[in-house]
Amino acid sequence: MFFDESRLPALVSGARNAAARAHAPYSQFRVGACLLADDGSLFFGCNVENASYGLAICAERNAIFQMVAAGRRSFEAIIVYTPTPDPTPPCGACRQVMNEFSRDAVVISVCDGTGLRRATVAELLPGAFDLKTR
Ligand code: THU
Repeated sequence: MFFDESRLPALVSGARNAAARAHAPYSQFRVGACLLADDGSLFFGCNVENASYGLAICAERNAIFQMVAAGRRSFEAIIVYTPTPDPTPPCGACRQVMNEFSRDAVVISVCDGTGLRRATVAELLPGAFDLKTR
């Protein structure tokens, strides 16, 4: 177990820094994610949009795919920063992708305000679709 409360400020900074790297010329909504993998390593993601709008990828999935590409399959926590007054919960597609790898992980949404939302993947996606073939 690598996640503990004392690490939260650094993880939030990681998510904020990742948001600064977003490619969001269409929505102007710059999202960043900082993921703590089960071996203690960190991965980052930002949203990457495209002129063909439907091809946009969210910050959360970008971070998870970075983790998978690096050979990890499980994560303890993902911190998601949105430039909003209140925290923004992850979209349904990202919840399903989180569920693929770590149903017990904690998802912490942070923003420009003082609010913070915290829930496990299981809480965010009850009754999830899963083929149970892993
Ligand atoms: N977006 C994310 O990156 N994460 C979320 O949780 C919600 C939405 C991105 C997708 C798109 O680039 C922009 O925010 C507006 O929807």
